[in-house]
Amino acid sequence: MVIVLLGPPGAGKGTQCKRIVEKYKLVHLSSGDILRNHRTKETELGKKAAEYMDSGKLVPDQLIIEMMVGAIESAKGNCVLDGFPRTVVQAGELDKELSRKEKKIDAIVDLVIDDGILERRLTGRRSCPACNAIYHIDTLKPKAEGVCDKCGSKLVQRTDDKPQVVKQRLQTYHQQTAAVVGYYADNGRKILDIDAEKSVDEVAALITAKLDGLKAK
Ligand code: AP5
Repeated sequence: MVIVLLGPPGAGKGTQCKRIVEKYKLVHLSSGDILRNHRTKETELGKKAAEYMDSGKLVPDQLIIEMMVGAIESAKGNCVLDGFPRTVVQAGELDKELSRKEKKIDAIVDLVIDDGILERRLTGRRSCPACNAIYHIDTLKPKAEGVCDKCGSKLVQRTDDKPQVVKQRLQTYHQQTAAVVGYYADNGRKILDIDAEKSVDEVAALITAKLDGLKAK
């Protein structure tokens, strides 16, 4: 099963994916987490990606496509894709890759939310660099301040969650990524729109209801 989770930066893709993978027994493939992992390990890809990520721009398609095709292969095509595809070129390549493997996207979920809310969510986010757990300084505090509940590591603010980079990321989303929804609509794909302004639990329930509805058909 392949699920694509779309939505702007801070819409809650990572938060919701953690629930989806548990419920549907899928592998969570977050292009952002994979890139950050490369940066921590100081690989060639990590070094190339750093400048784009820190300025809120997209990493070039070719680098991302190669990275994600490898990740999908390792997951044996049973995955939820978070942050990929992010351009129409990436969406086209994903379709080609899946069709080579006689697979297809089973569900496309789009988290719909207003930009004003996103800025607050992103600038208040704190992340665990070790296990990728996600917190928020107001709405999802860890039990001990600045410490990950799950693995005990020190929480950090992502370099791209600073206000000036957040503005650029939102602009990049509207200029380059929003078109991916149009790509799928133009190709007759059903898009499951979700109101992502609701609480984490409510959004999770909406997604589960839509995905279960698809499975029942
Ligand atoms: P990436 O890491 O993918 O960042 P993003 O898409 O900008 O998404 P985020 O991780 O910021 O947000 P999210 O939607 O996962 O929200 P979250 O659940 O954390 O990409 C980073 C960079 O890598 C890109 O800018 C680019 O440079 C590069 N890159 C990655 N993929 C690429 C690609 N395919 N092509 C090219 N370049 C690529 O939630 C956010 C906060 O809100 C948290 O604090 C959370 O607790 C809180 N929250 C979540 N849901 C709710 C809710 N319902 N109510 C209240 N608070 C909530």
